Amino acid sequence: MRGAILRAMGPHITKAVIPAAGLGTRFLPATKAIPKEMLPVVDKPAIQYVVEEAVGAGLEDILMIVGRNKNALANHFDRVAELERNLEVKADTARLERVNYSTDLADVHFVRQGDPKGLGHAVLRAKKHVGDQPFAVLLGDDLIDARDPLLTTMIEEQERRNATVIALLEVDPDQIHLYGAAAVEPTENPDVVKVVGLVEKPDRADAPSNLAIIGRYVLRPEVFDVLERTEPGKGGEIQLTDALQVLAADESIAGGVYGVVFRGRRYDTGDRLDYIKAIIQLAVDRDDLGPDLRQWVKQFAAGLSDQIEGPGTGH
Ligand code: UTP
Repeated sequence: MRGAILRAMGPHITKAVIPAAGLGTRFLPATKAIPKEMLPVVDKPAIQYVVEEAVGAGLEDILMIVGRNKNALANHFDRVAELERNLEVKADTARLERVNYSTDLADVHFVRQGDPKGLGHAVLRAKKHVGDQPFAVLLGDDLIDARDPLLTTMIEEQERRNATVIALLEVDPDQIHLYGAAAVEPTENPDVVKVVGLVEKPDRADAPSNLAIIGRYVLRPEVFDVLERTEPGKGGEIQLTDALQVLAADESIAGGVYGVVFRGRRYDTGDRLDYIKAIIQLAVDRDDLGPDLRQWVKQFAAGLSDQIEGPGTGH
């Protein structure tokens, strides 16, 4: 039904781009030989959650932008005949199913980003694969809880408004310097705002709001032309936020920029503290691990109750 309605409105989005070529310096030395997107969150690498999210929103054509540690990512989405045979011999069908599931999940393609020159530069590497259709970008180290859908709403907004759509999260003003921040105006929908300006990692005093850009975008192909003209910005990197700022300032390029305000659970697995929280939050809700883990967490927290200190930034 939804598909029929959307097809009547224009081309349906089918492609997702997942940049996973960053250096992951906050996680060194764990990320010396594997990308941070391959770090396990309970028993799946972070990147698998992100691919599952894309597939769940109907995007089965996935392009990963990969760096020097490409093999670990490519192997995860490929067959491992020896492992499959071993599980078959042992008649371990449950694990065999889990292994095959990650192989069959989606049509995953890879393109290299030679030097990690920034997120904008990584997205630009997708130009040829994407062509002239709108597409989604999902950051490989940013997990959105599957119980709190976001991407589907963003795709619907993109198709309805024929604009660029980004995801925004209200953060503590003390944390805004870690994100891109948006200047916004209200729309008829309380969960959607019009983005009139963007600043990458502003000081608290310069931030236009405490609405932070998080790692989901639905973009129009015009973004590639803008990225080609985008000079290195903050940190000497080609910033996607700078290109989005151009699109927000001039609606004639690609219909302007809208933000979907996300009020659900999100985990930044590229940050050590958030990574630990993600594992605990996801595991306590699982049927297999939850009951024992909840019990243990309660006892552990009781033992800590007289040691509680203020929160750090995790950076
Ligand atoms: P981050 O800034 O979080 O990634 O980029 P990073 O640079 O790897 O992290 P730290 O700060 O050194 O720990 C956000 C996303 O963009 C990708 C990253 O892989 C991550 O998913 N990225 C970033 C690229 O693909 N290429 C780049 O040049 C930069």
